[in-house]
Amino acid sequence: MMHEALRALANGEFILLYDFDDRERETDLTILADAVTPAHVRQMRKDAGGLICTAVHPEAAKRLGLPFAREILGSGNLVERDGDIPYDPKSHSSFSLWVNHRETFTGITDNDRSLTIRAVAEQVKRSLNGGGTNFGASFRTPGHVPLLRAADRLLDERCGQTELSIALAELAGVTPAVTVCEMLDDETGCALSKEDAKAYARKHGLVFIEGKDVVEKWSSR
Ligand code: 5RP
Ligand code: ZN
Ligand code: CA
Repeated sequence: MMHEALRALANGEFILLYDFDDRERETDLTILADAVTPAHVRQMRKDAGGLICTAVHPEAAKRLGLPFAREILGSGNLVERDGDIPYDPKSHSSFSLWVNHRETFTGITDNDRSLTIRAVAEQVKRSLNGGGTNFGASFRTPGHVPLLRAADRLLDERCGQTELSIALAELAGVTPAVTVCEMLDDETGCALSKEDAKAYARKHGLVFIEGKDVVEKWSSR
């Protein structure tokens, strides 16, 4: 299954990425940021319904000047504290900045979001290839595309879909910028159950994998 997941990711197809039974218990519709079209944004907002975020590799985040949001928000009492995340109290959220490409109009349309997401992937790729980076020349914040910054040591440090998806990109040998969106259940108001997420994968011919499979592959690489 891991082989199929890596191949689908590299081909620019959606994969379904569940985290862990003892974490969020959420499945993210997951796709290489490089490949995101307006139709993919539409499928994420209509079929998944969560937040459409783009995870980036920590080295690219450093080179592009993308901090963790909590680091720039300072120490006000509104800011996330240690232990705030109920499903992962030793961890922090991976939110970085929320951006729009400067050529977008409102930033929220399927066309605008896919433009921003693909341009972020391009910057990630260029930064990791040693190219010049001036992120602010092409993007503005605040915007409608939340960026997630993966932990420095990836799965050796944190095991959210942020790190799982970036580890998968590394394993697949593709640009480590990956767009994720939580699958929600329209009837219950909860996260879509693992069984229903698997049924969606079967119906759409997509690969479903779990965090434990990714961690296993990561540890034996
Ligand atoms: C952003 C989130 C999602 O859970 C997303 O999967 C990334 O977060 P994490 O790495 O914590 O799983 O909170 O909408
Ligand atoms: Zn989360
Ligand atoms: Ca998640």
